[in-house]
Amino acid sequence: MSKAPSDKRPPRITTTRLSEMKAAGERIVMITAYDAPGARLVDAAGVDAILVGDSLGMTVLGYDSTLPVTMDDMVRATAAVSRGASHALVVADLPFLSYQVSVEDAIRNAGRLLAEGGAQAVKLEGGVEVAGLVGILVDAGIPVVGHVGLTPQSVNVFGGYKTQGKSVEGGLDLVEDCRALEVAGACAVVLELVPAELAQLASEEIDIPTIGIGAGAGCDGQVQVFHDVLGLGDFTPRHARRFAEIGAAITTAIAEYSAEVRSGGFPAETQMSHLEEDVLAELERALPLTEVDD
Ligand code: KIV
Repeated sequence: MSKAPSDKRPPRITTTRLSEMKAAGERIVMITAYDAPGARLVDAAGVDAILVGDSLGMTVLGYDSTLPVTMDDMVRATAAVSRGASHALVVADLPFLSYQVSVEDAIRNAGRLLAEGGAQAVKLEGGVEVAGLVGILVDAGIPVVGHVGLTPQSVNVFGGYKTQGKSVEGGLDLVEDCRALEVAGACAVVLELVPAELAQLASEEIDIPTIGIGAGAGCDGQVQVFHDVLGLGDFTPRHARRFAEIGAAITTAIAEYSAEVRSGGFPAETQMSHLEEDVLAELERALPLTEVDD
């Protein structure tokens, strides 16, 4: 009997692996992706986790907040990312109003991201106030990543995208939120726009990994938005670093393509196919076709 060829691809990162990484002091790398080609590229770069963020509302769909993003937007993007990634853990965001209205909605919607989208975990925003729901989802077999600090779905409550937890009371609340999520069974928690010292303290207080964005270097991992680190958007938030200027490279390439089309330089011989001579001769003899009267 012939042996199946050995699979050289590294195994899929699991939620348990994230905890092991925290325990071993290995930093977790997470980045957003919203489609299959993007997922393929970041997976090939060896990231540990891909977040199908509801930031797709702003990065891909052209909205000015995450609020209009729907479950169907998220399921389609998550399924595309899952087709592109074979190694990284895929985490998908539950969008605004997909988990706040009822527990039934929350279970059904979170379940869709796993069953139809192929994600391995979902992320939802909130701390103490969503801990009960997190427990219910985990009991239903749905791994959950929490998200505290600046939670973009509540931007209208915060009055803008501002750093959270700057006071003693705010700091204690944030640590309590992290603890409540851990006790509820969350597998990790995103800390967004939190002072570095507070993020470090919170990371030391809990055993599940913290993944920071604009939360300093003391978190167990970092998450960034694909478009921010690649220079694909007009605006780069202060907490992001552009590791490439892909947006500028795209504009230059498309301007060159436009110029080549206009000058007749594209397509060239290598980008076209030709008819056999006899087919061409017969075609030319047959043309113009005689018009058929109605
Ligand atoms: O939607 C998103 O991209 C996020 C990150 C900012 C953490 O939630």
